[in-house]
Amino acid sequence: MERILSRWVDIPDLRRIEVYEAHGGYQAWRKVLTEMTPAALIDEVKAANLRGRGGAAFPTGTKWGFIPRDSQKPVYVCCNADESEPGTFGNRYQLENDPHGVIEGLLICCRAVNAHVGYIYLRGEFALQKRRVDEALAQARARGYVGRNVLGANFDVEIYTHRGAGAYICGEETALLESLEGKRGYPRNRPPFPAIHGAFGCPTVVNNVETLSNLPHIIARGAQWYRGIGPAASPGPKLFCLSGHLNRPGLYELPMGFPLKNMIYDEHLGGGILNGKKLKAVIPGGSSFPVFTADEALKVNMDFDSVRAAGSLMGTGGVIVMHEDTCMVDALRTIANFYHHESCGQCTPCREGCGWIEKLLIDLEAGRGEAADLDKLIDIADNMEGNTICVLADSLAMPVRSFVRKFKEEFVEHVRRRRCPYRFERGYAGAAPRDAPPFPPTEAGAAS
Ligand SMILES: Cc1cc2nc3c(=O)[nH]c(=O)nc-3n(C[C@H](O)[C@H](O)[C@H](O)COP(=O)(O)O)c2cc1C
Ligand code: SF4
Repeated sequence: MERILSRWVDIPDLRRIEVYEAHGGYQAWRKVLTEMTPAALIDEVKAANLRGRGGAAFPTGTKWGFIPRDSQKPVYVCCNADESEPGTFGNRYQLENDPHGVIEGLLICCRAVNAHVGYIYLRGEFALQKRRVDEALAQARARGYVGRNVLGANFDVEIYTHRGAGAYICGEETALLESLEGKRGYPRNRPPFPAIHGAFGCPTVVNNVETLSNLPHIIARGAQWYRGIGPAASPGPKLFCLSGHLNRPGLYELPMGFPLKNMIYDEHLGGGILNGKKLKAVIPGGSSFPVFTADEALKVNMDFDSVRAAGSLMGTGGVIVMHEDTCMVDALRTIANFYHHESCGQCTPCREGCGWIEKLLIDLEAGRGEAADLDKLIDIADNMEGNTICVLADSLAMPVRSFVRKFKEEFVEHVRRRRCPYRFERGYAGAAPRDAPPFPPTEAGAAS
């Protein structure tokens, strides 16, 4: 397949503006300024059926349509470059290697919703990426693509970059806006939604890096071309992040709807399971979503609707592969540790629930768990989901329920044998849990 989003693999130095321009760069921006009305632009993106790549798969054109056209307040656009979902690393490469593609997409979005200011909010660790984007912005400004009266089209637009302090929660769009305003990154209650009350109380669009990177291509080559890539309801190229027990983990651009089985086993893609082991499980969209067993994973096509129909969500396209030696109790404990650490603490079900789940899993992994803990895990997850300000709580509840239900035998085995069978009998090298008990277990633990 032709590389579209990741064409920087084939074009050295695409981040330099003269190279970017030589490959059609900023032609789409020129086109939307000189040949299209904002309404026609939104219609084109709706016709392309572009859906957000930041995790929720919301249709991009529809989101833009929520911005009031007659707003008396300024309108803002924020590019969400906070990328912190475990197993997800595509935005990072886009920003590093094709910063102009992201900037051009952001400019196109600004024109669509009549915003004269755009922000790029980068996660705290993205020092190199911010430098690359700042360099590209300076080049774009010098060429007259950003600034006053852009390309003589009587449209002013400025773009600013902003680096957060490295909190996962600041990727949640309302926490991002709080952080951008200089406050603590706490998610906001909704409604009102950002389209009405976003940055600085003004109408705001928040779009992901990869979502925006699609726009120059859609405008340059048309919605019909775009819809021809992958399934019509969920089309386009997608950057899949393959990680875990694979021979060739990495970032791969593939059409939406690509079979997960081929992604894992194709010799030019994942290259099969490490050390010839058997596949055990896959989380298809970053750590926040239900896990697939091997049988489920081998049947699913990777697009938003197919993954949903199979019982999980495609989220960011971060595919985490686990082989037969993985201890599923310990894998879930690692996930719980992350959400417990990243919970902002505003909502009791999330703040207490994430910690409680992690504690139960530490105990189960250490051989101190009880049979009743399995129901308790499900019960806590059920009480977290849907009861909080943002969906971080759901992001742990979903993996918990699926891990416990689909790999129940393994959890039971930990209780029955009062130890982790993987860690001691199969050379499993999972990370040592925080607050880890002494390993190997005490005499009393091992004997009972
Ligand atoms: C806890 C949490 C973290 C999130 N992190 C990110 C992120 O790092 N990047 C991102 O684009 N979206 C993230 N999102 C989703 C955003 O809230 C929002 O849906 C997205 O930026 C919208 O862009 P899109 O429509 O282009 O996908 C996160 C959501 C939650 C609940
Ligand atoms: S669900 Fe968790 S992360 Fe989200 S607002 Fe509530 S406490 Fe904070």
